[in-house]
Amino acid sequence: MKFHLLKIKAIHRLTADSVQITFDVPTVLHEEFSFVPGQYITLDIDGTRRDYSICESPNNKEWSIGVKAMEGGKISTYLVNDLKVGDELKVSTPNGRFTIPSKPNEKRTLIAFTAGSGITPIMAMAEYTLQTEEWVNFHIFYVNKNSQSVMFQDKLNDLSAKYPQNLHVHHFYTQEDQENFIYNGRIDEKKFDLILNQLIDINEVDEAMVCGPEEMIFTLAKKINEAGIVEKHIHFELFTTAVKPEQVFEKTEDEVQEVNVKVTLDGEEMEFVWNREKNLIDAMLDHDIDAPYSCKGGVCSSCMCKVTEGEVNIGENFVLTDSDYEDGMTLACISRPKTAHLAIDFDDV
Ligand code: FES
Repeated sequence: MKFHLLKIKAIHRLTADSVQITFDVPTVLHEEFSFVPGQYITLDIDGTRRDYSICESPNNKEWSIGVKAMEGGKISTYLVNDLKVGDELKVSTPNGRFTIPSKPNEKRTLIAFTAGSGITPIMAMAEYTLQTEEWVNFHIFYVNKNSQSVMFQDKLNDLSAKYPQNLHVHHFYTQEDQENFIYNGRIDEKKFDLILNQLIDINEVDEAMVCGPEEMIFTLAKKINEAGIVEKHIHFELFTTAVKPEQVFEKTEDEVQEVNVKVTLDGEEMEFVWNREKNLIDAMLDHDIDAPYSCKGGVCSSCMCKVTEGEVNIGENFVLTDSDYEDGMTLACISRPKTAHLAIDFDDV
């Protein structure tokens, strides 16, 4: 994760409270900024970091994000209302694990459930898949307040016109009635069952994506799983989490207070004393080490690293899989020392 100062190349209004922001990525940085659909970049605005998913297919060679002004959200409001073309922002290279395998030679069905600005990574996934997979069936179930609050409506229309056999966008509105009652209201458990009965055959689904608020993710991911899709084919992206670090760490008497930790980052080895009062990211920042992080809450995966010696305690997270744990992976932002000697590698992930 490296930050570069990038100029704003274009700002395109999507709805009254959302915009698409395109960065001018110089050709020399194209490789560093290469990404897989579903990944995000992190903005660092005066020390505050926020993640925004890339909304373009990598084939377009454009680096754009979709931003919706959140109530009380200083950064998102600034980006939507005050940012100008030509301004510069500190932008990280792309990150993230909300991605699906590309299978250009297969006939497959993909389904995506999303709400509001959760559509942003789905836009990149859908466009790339449509560009590269001739036989794909891509269903998007997209919840908004009304037809005026649909982000990327024009682009969704264009893609539907270009790929009428492959893309199927189903709009659900919570505050505007539509003729078919199935499309009225958000997608809860009952609505999900109706969708399965009337709109898709779950037995044909190969990958399922869910991107939106936490409640929607957990409800739908569980339902999709119960309907027969195994965990590794269900992908979700949380925007925020309610888990607070202080809820995560239970102090026990016998835990070590201070440890020596050896950290490998960008090919360099550093050693310092890590006090368990702090998570590993904050401990590194205290020692002027340019630690990779964004959410600091076990959500985004920017801080993923490998414990190569010793053990850490890790809090609850929605990122690491069973095989990550087996490989010794951890998230530095929710890790505290467990053993007296530790070695952590940020490069080997
Ligand atoms: S910084 Fe986001 S998971 Fe650690």
